[in-house]
Amino acid sequence: MPLEVTRDTAALDAALAPARAAGTSVALVPTMGALHDGHLALVRRAAELAPVVVVTVFVNPTQFDVAADLDAYPRDLDGDLAALAALAAGPDAPARLVVHAPTVADVYPDGPGVTRRAGDVGTHLCGATRPGHFDGVATVVDRLLALVRPDVAVFGRKDFQQVAVVRRLVAEAGHAVRVEAAPTVREPDGVARSSRNLLLDADGRRLARRVPRALAAAVAIARAARDRGAALDPGTVRAALRAGLAPPGRASDLEVVYAEAADPDAVVPLDAPVAPDVPVLAAVAVTVPGRGLRVRLIDNVVLGDVADEDRLLAAVAAAGPAGADE
Ligand code: PAF
Repeated sequence: MPLEVTRDTAALDAALAPARAAGTSVALVPTMGALHDGHLALVRRAAELAPVVVVTVFVNPTQFDVAADLDAYPRDLDGDLAALAALAAGPDAPARLVVHAPTVADVYPDGPGVTRRAGDVGTHLCGATRPGHFDGVATVVDRLLALVRPDVAVFGRKDFQQVAVVRRLVAEAGHAVRVEAAPTVREPDGVARSSRNLLLDADGRRLARRVPRALAAAVAIARAARDRGAALDPGTVRAALRAGLAPPGRASDLEVVYAEAADPDAVVPLDAPVAPDVPVLAAVAVTVPGRGLRVRLIDNVVLGDVADEDRLLAAVAAAGPAGADE
């Protein structure tokens, strides 16, 4: 099936009118473009959930707390359309694939501004260091859900806190949509796929490999505690994450923004040991050198979610042992 590309709300409505009239399910994959395999995995997952998939490509100005970050964000609509056209021509294609790439004026007719708040789930972790970021995410997702009116919306689990913010928004705003969180897709060296990886220089790329290894160390601690039937101490998890990200005695240009053990539902840091069967979100954010700027990377694993732990450990094992220069 050829791609259908829409650039404004009227064209999107026209494209979706037959599906809406027939009651055909629609899945939404919101993106900011610079699509990589992680996004394409979200589109494939969406195609399993609904015959009509809408991929939005929109670099949302209200979620960038730093103007330079918005300017530097990679944009490649032609490349995105080519990647989606290849998917649309392949065996995993949905019956219809609509790419909606609106202008800022179309999404924000009154000018870009925040009209939704992230609430408590957006306070800690990334929320603590990126003021206003999740308010911008909640605002744009609210608008995209209102424009597309999908039955299901698919987000990447790498952005764990974002998914929590979206779930809260959906409940608060009363959107009739199911939120699906799809597993993180990793590169051969274990680094989580991200559009920001395009911005890494060689040093940043090498240091980024510490992130999945640090998370794997946290998994090892959680599994050892579970095997003993012992409570998991969040302080031990944090220490393991930090030791993996910034090994003591080894100077490097990796800055730890946070290395947290948190409640996965409330996304609030834990301050007391939790019982062995209680899931714990191990989440990190770092900055590493990039081409002309520092690049912020995030990643996570839910300790106690065995499938999530297994996926991470398999990727780290496949990446092989750390190089002497890591
Ligand atoms: O995850 C992203 O790419 C963005 O935060 C999203 C959900 C598309 C909103 O702009």
